[in-house]
Amino acid sequence: MTELDRKQDRAPVPKDWTYAPAPESRDVVTLRERYGHFIGGEWIEPTETYETIAPRDEETLATVGQATAEDVDRAVAAARGAFSNGWSDLPGSERAKYLFRIARILQERAREFAVLESLNGGKPIKESRDVDLPLAAAHFFYYAGWADKLEYAFPNRQPRPVGVAGQIIPWNFPLLMLSWKIAPALACGNTVVLKPAETTPLTALLFCDVVRQAELPPGVVNIVTGDGRTGAAIVEHPDVDKIAFTGSTEVGKAIQRRLAGTGKKLTLELGGKAANIVFDDSALDQAVEGIVNGIYFNQGHVCCAGSRLFAQESIYEPLVEKLKRRLETLRVGDPLDKNTDVGAINSKMQLDKIVELVEAGKAEGAEIYQPPCNLPEKGYWFAPTVFTNVAQSYRIAQEEIFGPVLSVLTFRTPEEAVEKANNTPYGLSAGVWTEKGSRILWMAQRMRAGVVWANTFNRFDPTSPFGGYKESGFGREGGRHGLEPYLSFDE
Ligand code: NAI
Ligand code: MG
Repeated sequence: MTELDRKQDRAPVPKDWTYAPAPESRDVVTLRERYGHFIGGEWIEPTETYETIAPRDEETLATVGQATAEDVDRAVAAARGAFSNGWSDLPGSERAKYLFRIARILQERAREFAVLESLNGGKPIKESRDVDLPLAAAHFFYYAGWADKLEYAFPNRQPRPVGVAGQIIPWNFPLLMLSWKIAPALACGNTVVLKPAETTPLTALLFCDVVRQAELPPGVVNIVTGDGRTGAAIVEHPDVDKIAFTGSTEVGKAIQRRLAGTGKKLTLELGGKAANIVFDDSALDQAVEGIVNGIYFNQGHVCCAGSRLFAQESIYEPLVEKLKRRLETLRVGDPLDKNTDVGAINSKMQLDKIVELVEAGKAEGAEIYQPPCNLPEKGYWFAPTVFTNVAQSYRIAQEEIFGPVLSVLTFRTPEEAVEKANNTPYGLSAGVWTEKGSRILWMAQRMRAGVVWANTFNRFDPTSPFGGYKESGFGREGGRHGLEPYLSFDE
């Protein structure tokens, strides 16, 4: 870095360049006061309920159902009925038409879904608008394309649908995770009972309108809302043939124990503690963008977030300096403002977990940096955070924080980078920043991670399989690989 570079790098960020607020209108969303469960194509009145809120200001948005074991039983019966009464026998080209319809309706109603996603979950509108919604629609388009080509995906293996799939999803990408689950299941001829996370049920409930609009046969998609008890009832239901779960490693392990010996198929997509590795020959400014995208995207509520930054020692100082400066320009605030980069933390529970781990990081001796920012008084907020002086043994280097908190570590040689990056119980994703193609391949072969990004991070595409090693789970979603968990084979 030249002296001039250094000076320019230190130039203060002009503080008077304030942006006018650019709020997205929430009028495009019509919320009902009360939602039931969507079973057999109809709304079923819930017996127990709770209120779902907006994490940006704790406003109550609607009353939703807490499904009991009886409600789940009804949903499974509806799914079984739809499976046996036609859906599983439909030619793939007919099933594809429904999936194409759903994809197109999601595109047409994208703005409504994006606003609701940001309202109920806290993520910035520019992310729900530009990432979650386009990817959700793309997933349906992609799997629509496979529906009539399953024999070609698995030649000579005679694929058949599995039956009723129970699907349990988290709160970080509510509609996108729904799409990852429902699109391949339906393409393969299964029917589903899906449960969104307790803090973010609203886009899944709006999706029921799409299901009706697409005239999907009743019972093919059933949505029940509720917390872990509802999830457990789905897992335990004897007439569910397959469970697909995305969430914490803790619950994933419990589900695996429950299902041992039952013959039910299972895929688990669990936590992560990804390494983002920056070599000294990489384009540093580009790497800084990738680091920021890796850990502050979606408030760090991302299973594949680049939560551990490994900087090669020779560039450690300029990299951290550039990163801190970039952090000062991140706009934290109202998720519905189009200028917002970092929105609200999804729930009080998640905020408490982030605070606890950040306190642990300080107590263990790491050095904390947070840019000055005014956090709103109401709602759940956490400033973008960087920890330096982090040892591999610290909790902030080992445990999934699932918040906007980065731990910076260093390395000298590629071998050391690999060893440190793999020193985690998880193995979902990794990032490598270097100019050398040969080094990218060398690193990718050695990283114990389902996805390795090179000179980019958090890139998703429905054609590309995604999933973990070790405690990050098993099974793949996306791509041709994503069909397999939803099929049985005569062999
Ligand atoms: P969680 O694993 O409890 O929740 C995920 C889903 O599982 C929700 O729909 C929940 O209702 C359901 N669930 C909870 N207990 C269940 C049970 N016994 N049987 C069946 N389903 C059950 O995750 P939580 O508590 O929301 O977050 C805790 C931590 O987990 C986070 O701080 C984060 O570290 C991690 N996490 C990872 C995610 C990922 O994408 N890999 C997503 C969400 C959380
Ligand atoms: Mg939990």
